[in-house]
Amino acid sequence: SNRTFTMIKPDATGKGYTGAILNDIIKAGFTIKAMKWTKLTIDQAAEFYAIHKERPFFGELIEFMSSGPIVAAILEKNNAVNDFRKLIGATDPAKADEGTIRKKYASSVGENAVHGSDSDENALVESDFFFSKLERF
Ligand code: GTP
Ligand code: MG
Repeated sequence: SNRTFTMIKPDATGKGYTGAILNDIIKAGFTIKAMKWTKLTIDQAAEFYAIHKERPFFGELIEFMSSGPIVAAILEKNNAVNDFRKLIGATDPAKADEGTIRKKYASSVGENAVHGSDSDENALVESDFFFSKLERF
C-alpha cells in the first residue's frame, strides 16, 4: 500500500516540535491525506495499543499517550510504511540514526516523539481508529 498512519506523541507536541516534525515529514516526500489535533483518554489509548497489553511497559505507555495532545495523520507515499519507519528511526532514540525524527526530537524509548504503523494492515486499522470516511479522501 502507499499509505501509513502516524501520531505525533504528547512529548513532542508539548515541547513545540509539531511544526518541525510535520515539515520533516513533508520534506521526506509524504503527502498528508488526513490530520487532526486531539487528546486520547486512558481507555482510548488502551484500545489503540491493545496489542501491547501484556508488555511490562503497557501502563506507562497508555498513561503517557493520554497525558497531552497528539496529532494523528494519514500519510501517502510509495512504500509508505517502510519509508516512514526509516524516517522516524529506532524505537529508542539513543539507537536511532542521525537525522531521523526520533534522533532529533525524542528523549527516551517511552517518550519517543512519533508513532509509525508497522504494516499495511495496521495502518488501515489505526487510520480507522481516528478518521471517518468523510475525513479521508
Ligand atoms: P510505535 O511506532 O510507537 O509503535 O513504536 P515502535 O513500533 O518503534 O515500537 P513498539 O511498537 O515495539 O512499541 C510501541 C511503543 O511502546 C513505543 O513507541 C514506545 O513508546 C513504547 N515502548 C516500547 N518499549 C518501551 C519500553 O521499554 N518502555 C516504555 N516506557 N515504553 C516503551
Ligand atoms: Mg509499533
